[in-house]
Amino acid sequence: MSGATDDLSTYHKDHWVEIEPDRFERYDQLFRIDPRFAERMLGPVGVQPGETVVDFGCGPGYVAVELARLGGPGTTVHAVDVNADFVERARVVVGEAQKDDAVTVHHVADERLPFADGSVDRVYAKNVLEYVPDLSGTLAELVRVLRPGGTLVASDSDFGFVVVEPLDVSEVREIFEAAAPAFKEPNVGRKLRNAYRRAGLVDVKVDVAVTPDTRGTLRGVIENMLGYGTKFGRMSDARAVELRGRLDAAIADGDFFMALPQWWVRGSKA
Ligand SMILES: C[S@@+](CC[C@H](N)C(=O)[O-])C[C@H]1O[C@@H](n2cnc3c(N)ncnc32)[C@H](O)[C@@H]1O
Repeated sequence: MSGATDDLSTYHKDHWVEIEPDRFERYDQLFRIDPRFAERMLGPVGVQPGETVVDFGCGPGYVAVELARLGGPGTTVHAVDVNADFVERARVVVGEAQKDDAVTVHHVADERLPFADGSVDRVYAKNVLEYVPDLSGTLAELVRVLRPGGTLVASDSDFGFVVVEPLDVSEVREIFEAAAPAFKEPNVGRKLRNAYRRAGLVDVKVDVAVTPDTRGTLRGVIENMLGYGTKFGRMSDARAVELRGRLDAAIADGDFFMALPQWWVRGSKA
């Protein structure tokens, strides 16, 4: 595990191939899934019993495990990631969940998938597509592996639609603008519908889901943005410290409120 390169033009991908230990730990916490809420969180992926599913950009593997649980017996999940540390962690998470028979974790070097044309029923990408260097090329690859009638589901943010109380609208924008080089497409949520249609998918549907956070569960997302902003020299350390202090005080006082809408976009291969 080491730090990402400092070339900002390719940082959106590089910072996943090489991840800093503190960010790895933050994601390992942030992406844990409480089994009590798994159905509500991942039910919209729509996994059917016995399906073969690709979890594209699987991270630490919590999603893959829950997809296998939701699909039940006979469901096969192929979890794929560009980051070797997440792949290693995902294999441990899958083992601890005793889902080795259902979930296989694959390390990939790029957006090409190690699966045959038309070989899978469903592909799910959770919070990944804002980082890929070439969205249309990646969608073409995800569609390639789907069987005719198979389904692509993505859930993603759109960083133009974020509410963080007690910060001002302009301060939220300031944070995300400072972090912008970390994303290839920070507004991917709104872009996906047309990107799917251009990729040849049919029956494209969009839902926007919001679960308000009043406890500070999503505080880690802002921490990542502040970390990117200071690393890039687009936000001073002093400003980040001030913002952190206000957010932490709001969490302690019960005044924190954050909404990070997730854009659920699905489409079928003709
Ligand atoms: C924000 S994390 C989401 C992890 C996981 N989907 C979840 O929600 O728990 C983004 C993940 O996508 C992976 N990723 C980024 N670019 C990728 C690419 N081009 N191909 C495959 N995985 C990628 C990262 O390594 C990281 O694990």
